[in-house]
Parts: sequence; structure tokens; C-alpha cells
Amino acid sequence: MMARDNTEKYQSLQLHEIEWHRKFTLSVACLVLFLIGAPLGSIIRKGGLGTPLVFAIIFFVIFHLFNTFGEKFVKSGQTNAILGMWLSTFILIPIGAFLIFKAMRDSQLFNQEFYYRTFKRVREFIANFRENQSITLERTNQFNRMKTPNSRRSFIKTTGKAGLMAGIGLTVLPKFGFASSNNSITNFVQQPLPYNYNALEPFIDAMTMEIHYSKHAATYAKNLNDACVAEKVDINNQSLDNILRKISAYSPKMRNNAGGHYNHELFWQCMKPGTATKPSGKLAAAIDSSFGSFDAFKTQFTDAGKNRFGSGWAWLVLSADNKLVIGSTPNQDNPLMDTSELKGKPLLGLDVWEHAYYLKYQNKRPDYINNWWNLVNWDFVATQFN
Ligand SMILES: [Fe+2]
Repeated sequence: MMARDNTEKYQSLQLHEIEWHRKFTLSVACLVLFLIGAPLGSIIRKGGLGTPLVFAIIFFVIFHLFNTFGEKFVKSGQTNAILGMWLSTFILIPIGAFLIFKAMRDSQLFNQEFYYRTFKRVREFIANFRENQSITLERTNQFNRMKTPNSRRSFIKTTGKAGLMAGIGLTVLPKFGFASSNNSITNFVQQPLPYNYNALEPFIDAMTMEIHYSKHAATYAKNLNDACVAEKVDINNQSLDNILRKISAYSPKMRNNAGGHYNHELFWQCMKPGTATKPSGKLAAAIDSSFGSFDAFKTQFTDAGKNRFGSGWAWLVLSADNKLVIGSTPNQDNPLMDTSELKGKPLLGLDVWEHAYYLKYQNKRPDYINNWWNLVNWDFVATQFN
């Protein structure tokens, strides 16, 4: 009789303990749903909310099954309440933590570059706003200081000429290679990647993009600046284009890194997320008349990349006599260099170094090139062409 009472008391206590743990594990289940669903949403970022939601529900069911079995083990006395009721939490929380870590590397929400770019844009907007305000104020003051109609006419005439010259400068100079500070190609500083590392998936994987941009290309930019210091190049009064055009006068280090930096800055802009369309307008007409058709152009460009022995680049360039030409250059050489056999203004560049594709495509360079066509930013190519 006493033993039965003790057993009933023990079972009652055990049920009370299970109930107590269940209350907490249910709260944790919601946390697991969030820990797994939220980062999955930002990592996958396709199929809307459906895919992460399905995964989160699957994990929730797994969590519930673990808990049900755990409860049975506790009731049968095979394990204690803490281990039985919390085992699923101990297993699933690290999975959630791993997904958050992965999301921190890939997603827009945790992407430091995104915040850096946003901060930079805001700072530039404020700087431009202040500059415009001070110019307006200065002009107003100048105008107010004018006492006579003649001097007012003179002021209008002078500022009108200055405005005209500024307009011509802004329109014409970039075409001659004197790019504005917004033209990232001619800058000595590595510009933020125009998209996330995983934005070019499935054609180029996030890991390749991250290593390519943050290691290989960043090193070219750093070494270029080191070479400029060593060879006393004043980067404030010298454009990268000009250095490339006289590259034979510089060291091999300058040649490799000036080319490497320029080529990669162009390469990032030659691609964009989403499925590429075909070129249009004047560019499409020029491609058709130069190569016969868009497909013939693609075949010829693909062959230039495929057949480049070792490391190098495939190019579509606009030659000095305004013709479209396809070719390739070894290493980090490019068509702007005076040492290059292929010469002209680069419109489209394709990196065929193994570091651009090896993680996903291994030795299958043709597969990489065939998939890369899905990423070509024809709007950018058309801007270069125009
Ligand atoms: Fe590269």
C-alpha cells in the first residue's frame, strides 16, 4: 500500500515536472522557428516566403517529435526530465546559430557592405546638398553686391559662360577618359561590389564571389597603390587609364596590379543579377553588322575565353577606328595597355582565371562561360559603347 502511494506520488511529481518543462520548451519552439526560418529566408531569397516557411515547419515538426519521444522516455523512467524535454532544443539551437552565421555572411540584412554603401550615399547626398547650398548663397550674395545694371549683365554673362563650360566638361571629358569620381573603372580605390556575393547564384556561387572580390581583387587594388607609392605616381593628378596607356614605362608589378584592378572593377559592372537579355539599339546593330549575328558574336567571344591559354581575359573592344573587335589578353593585361596586341576601349570583359570559376566548375571553363552569359549587364556594355 505504502509502495503504491510512493509510486503514485512519484508519477504525479514526474507529470508536474514534464508539464513545467513543456511550458518552457514551447516558448523555445517559437524561438527555433524564428532562428531557423529568418536566416533561411535571407539565405535562400527565392520562392518568396514559401521555401523558408516550409523549412521552418519541417524543423518545428522535428522539434515536436523529439519532444514527444523525450516525454515518453521520461515517463518510462529511461531518462530524466531535463535531458528528455530539452534534447531537441540542444540539437536544433546550434543549427539555428549556424544558419544565422551563414546569413551574416550572405544576406543583405547582415551585409556590412550594404550599410557601408548606404552610409556613403547618405554622406555624398549631404555633401552635395551643402555644396549646392553654398554655391546658391554665394551667387545670391554676388548678385546682390552688383549695384549697376551693367555689372549685373556682366555677372550673368560670366556665370553663363562658366555654366556652359562646366556643361561641356561634364559631357565631353568622360568620353576622353577623364572620368568623374563616380566612374569606378578609373579609380584607384576598390569600389563596393554593386550586388551581394550570392546575387549571381546559381551561375557564380557566393563563395567564389567573396574570395574573388575580397581577396584577389582587393589585393590588386592594394598592390597598385603600393606600386604607385614606390614609383612616385601622383594618383591625385594621374588617371589609371593614362597609366595603362603608358604601362611599358612602369614596372611589372605596376602592370600586373594596374591591369588587375582595372579589369576587375570593369568585370563587376559587366555582370548583374537576374537573367540577362540581349543587347538592343545601336549596340545590337553594331554587333550584328560586325559579327553577322548575336549568336555568332557569342560563339566568337566564348572561343576567345575558352582558348586563352592559362590565365587571362576575353574582351569585346571598340577599336580606334570605331569597330567592334573580340580578342583576349594574357594574365592581367588589357586592351588599354600600350603593350597589348589587342587594342581599344574595353566594352565587355570576362575573367577566365581559374580563381573566377574553379570552386563551382573545376576545370570546366566552357561551362563557366556558357553560364556567365546569363549575367551580362548589357545596359552597362551599351553605356561603354555610347
Ligand atoms: Fe579575377
